[in-house]
Amino acid sequence: MILAIESSCDDSALALLEIDTLKLIFHDRMVQNGGVVPELAARLHAVNLPKLLESVVDYLPRVKAVAVTHEPGLTVALAEGVVMAQALALALKVPLIAVNHIKGHLCSLFVETPSCFPLSVLMASGGHTLIIEAHDYGRMRQIAASIDDSMGEAFDKVAKMLGLGYPGGPLIEALAQKGDENRFDFPLPLKHDARLAFSYSGLKNSVRLAIEALGEPGEQDKADIAASFQKAAVGHLLFKTRRYLQQARPERMGLVGGVSANRYLRERFTALCAEFKCEPLFAPLSFCADNAAMIARAALEQYRLGEFADPAGIKIRSRAPLSKEN
Ligand code: KG4
Ligand code: ZN
Repeated sequence: MILAIESSCDDSALALLEIDTLKLIFHDRMVQNGGVVPELAARLHAVNLPKLLESVVDYLPRVKAVAVTHEPGLTVALAEGVVMAQALALALKVPLIAVNHIKGHLCSLFVETPSCFPLSVLMASGGHTLIIEAHDYGRMRQIAASIDDSMGEAFDKVAKMLGLGYPGGPLIEALAQKGDENRFDFPLPLKHDARLAFSYSGLKNSVRLAIEALGEPGEQDKADIAASFQKAAVGHLLFKTRRYLQQARPERMGLVGGVSANRYLRERFTALCAEFKCEPLFAPLSFCADNAAMIARAALEQYRLGEFADPAGIKIRSRAPLSKEN
């Protein structure tokens, strides 16, 4: 089996995936609630990853490779996972596999099933808002990205402005159910811009101005803002995705990343795909947020391709957009 470690942001996660059967033997994550502070996240990984490892000690003799997320993410957080993976690989005398976090999210679509390339993917998380075309695991191309904030970041920031907790996405989604999504007419970003790109900072500012204009927003005001914001945020994502579908006409398109847990988004994405006779693919809810199961699945593709890392020379990179060569 492959043992995988994920520590690119504030969640510590570990998984074991059986190589021949694609059976997920173990996966667990420890969540650090309260906002992302890199040094604190790194310190908690150093405590939490060994705890997770304790749960799988009996399986260690069956581990054939150790995988770890090495890019993109918070460098100090990534380093905790990489150091642990290096030590484990050395102790177990097995190869190391360095996984790109974005490729990991893509593989959340088929953790326990065979891969389904070629495929297009819409990824919306706290770190990224992307459209990716994956010819196969070795050939992926970034088609669109955000020019400023990511979609998940916008949910988190708006939640903060409304005095909700962290992470903001699920809280906004729940509050939006009680609100009127047509009360505030937040403009769709980049609507008259021909680029296939995303932008969320302008929308965030529109929400800030609306809150300021209200002075002391009441409970119903907050619900209406949450609903109107969610409508615009999802509307923008799918406005640009529609343009992509018109141009590329993919047979299937996956939706991945933390924000893909949002039911309002899932429903509208499904309806959009139906218009283009494109098959929509989703990850199970447990694999939408950062997890190690998706990293193990990506590592399995690399294991089959013989893509192993130099144990002493894993490069940790905070930014690593998928290039044409990726
Ligand atoms: O993929 P992820 O766990 O971490 C990154 O790689 O960034 O994504 C986390 C993001 C957070 O911004 C969180 O607020 C957002 O996903 N999120 C949601 C929902 N659940 C999580 N956003 C909207 N609706 C949700 N239900
Ligand atoms: Zn992620």
